Amino acid sequence: IPVDDFDLVIFGGTGDLARRKILPGLYRRFCAGQMPAEARIIGAARSDFGTPEFRDMVRDAIHEFSEKNDCDEQKIEQFLAQLHYVTIDVMGEGGWSELKDLMRDGIVKAFYFSVAPKLFGAIAERLHLKGISDQDSRIVVEKPFGRDLETAKALNADLAAHFDETQIYRIDHYLGKETVQNLMAVRFGNILFEPLWNAQYIDHIQITVAETVGVGGRGEYYDRAGAMRDMVQNHLMQLLCLIAMEPPSKYDPDAVRDEKLKVIRALEPIAPHHIVRGQYDATDTEQSYREDAGDPKSRTESYIALRCMIANWRWANTPIYIRTGKKLKARASEIAVVFKDTPHSIFGEEAGKHANVLRIRLQPNEGMTLQVTIKEPGPGGMRLVDVPLDMSFADALGDEDDVPDAYERLIMDVIRGNQTLFMRGDEVEAAWAWTDPLINGWTARNDVPKLYDVGSAGPDDAALMLKRENRVWREIK
Ligand code: BG6
Repeated sequence: IPVDDFDLVIFGGTGDLARRKILPGLYRRFCAGQMPAEARIIGAARSDFGTPEFRDMVRDAIHEFSEKNDCDEQKIEQFLAQLHYVTIDVMGEGGWSELKDLMRDGIVKAFYFSVAPKLFGAIAERLHLKGISDQDSRIVVEKPFGRDLETAKALNADLAAHFDETQIYRIDHYLGKETVQNLMAVRFGNILFEPLWNAQYIDHIQITVAETVGVGGRGEYYDRAGAMRDMVQNHLMQLLCLIAMEPPSKYDPDAVRDEKLKVIRALEPIAPHHIVRGQYDATDTEQSYREDAGDPKSRTESYIALRCMIANWRWANTPIYIRTGKKLKARASEIAVVFKDTPHSIFGEEAGKHANVLRIRLQPNEGMTLQVTIKEPGPGGMRLVDVPLDMSFADALGDEDDVPDAYERLIMDVIRGNQTLFMRGDEVEAAWAWTDPLINGWTARNDVPKLYDVGSAGPDDAALMLKRENRVWREIK
């Protein structure tokens, strides 16, 4: 179903994110028939381009980054015809009147700030003062949304000076992933899980986002951020919220975000022995984090594991272990909800202990399985085995390639005016309010991250942290 007619301006339209994700994503939505024929995408950046050069750049970007490309060259040309370009100096005066002349009235106007956060305020101000945006316009901003509570507050204030919260779309692309939304459907669309979804029946939860990539060409940014700021404060925090929140009264932006905010605010501070920071070390064939980051003394973490506790009735004494890292043995993101053992085993000790595990796989091979215990088939007496009950939706969805990727879905939500999958300002601030003391704590302690080999499961200390509590991490595979 096509969305309403729109003009979408991408500041930083020639940048990396625009080339890799935003523009190829929009192209796929065009191919899916979702982009109206009149809709326009306007690239705005410093480069002294004209529209033809911008179209050439986007053509190349589609060829390079559109894996799911099932469209033909003719389609690409049709898409490119809807693209325009304006050279703009976002901190100065040049280009704004050209942009204003290009924009149409009476349709959805969206402005994507795919630029460094220090430019957010200047762009918001000029859009407003030059009469380019109006009360119905939407702005889209990317992470990093600040590097601590203070800077996040300042960014929120810069945007709030010219735009209402209902106009601001803060992207966390994890919320656009298919399985992440399915998590809500499974929790709140079934009677089966919710009665068991609490401290009485759940032993603990594990959230893992393991990556095989290193920090590559982003060493400079990453070394100032680290895994906590780059991944935990946003992506893992969002996953934790969706897993732990109370049922919202309806699936609407503020109802959902109110519940997520309560989770973040209920997170307890974490003691140092429940934090493991790691840094990847060189192997014979791979270089170390410090070499990648270009700082032989860097103490930035490329891996982090935390034991989080939520101080409320539902989750009292139920740890939520989270971990994420770069250059690990496999790319695997999943959430595992590990239920408690049965209170009494009628099959005796030799039957072993069996716990139900709900495994929600985000990527790759997205899907869900529920591990249940059954009798081992055959005549061997009453022996128990665990089998997965497959609730994967791959079949239902058809080809994995047909599933829109996170950016595609989120940009279309902006045009539709649906903020449910975007972070609200108070959520972002609450997340920083929780992470700041942790980061300040290890900085003050001069904590040195534990080394782990490239291609391993992370530092040994992370395994020890769980072992102390008689638990084990799930295998990364
Ligand atoms: C980004 C981080 O937000 O998410 C990157 O800055 C990380 O460091 C990426 O690699 C992971 O996203 P995905 O969708 O590949 O899991």
